[in-house]
Amino acid sequence: MIKDKELMGFAIAARHMAYAPYSGYQVGAALLTDDGDLFTGCNVENASYGATNCAERTAVFKAVSEGRRKISCIAIAGGKGDELNMAFPCGVCRQVLREFSDPEKLKILVGTSSEDYKEYSLAELLPNSFGPEALD
Ligand code: THU
Repeated sequence: MIKDKELMGFAIAARHMAYAPYSGYQVGAALLTDDGDLFTGCNVENASYGATNCAERTAVFKAVSEGRRKISCIAIAGGKGDELNMAFPCGVCRQVLREFSDPEKLKILVGTSSEDYKEYSLAELLPNSFGPEALD
């Protein structure tokens, strides 16, 4: 089973694949599914700006498109150039994560290295959220 600090390492590595010529802000994400599989993603920008996809959603969509629908942990690393800062997931990514996780259980790791990161739950970052059960 991949440890939290290793998952941060995968996020930092995935960040190297970022396509961010417009913002210069490169983001990498690495997630674990409930069965322990790893998926990574990076942000993919677009000349239209609006068609840009965040790193977290790239990773989630890769997982879902490979048949996984439960995410237990996601690590995120972002910043400009060599400088990483605390790259919190945007609102749209929080909502997409909500779709494929239990908000109380999903661990979100945000940090600048495998040694320096903080852990949050999705419930903390997206309180009183709207999810699939609302439509039952
Ligand atoms: N970005 C992400 O990849 N994840 C987030 O949660 C926030 C923002 C990307 C989108 C864009 O390519 C760049 O960071 C600047 O907004």
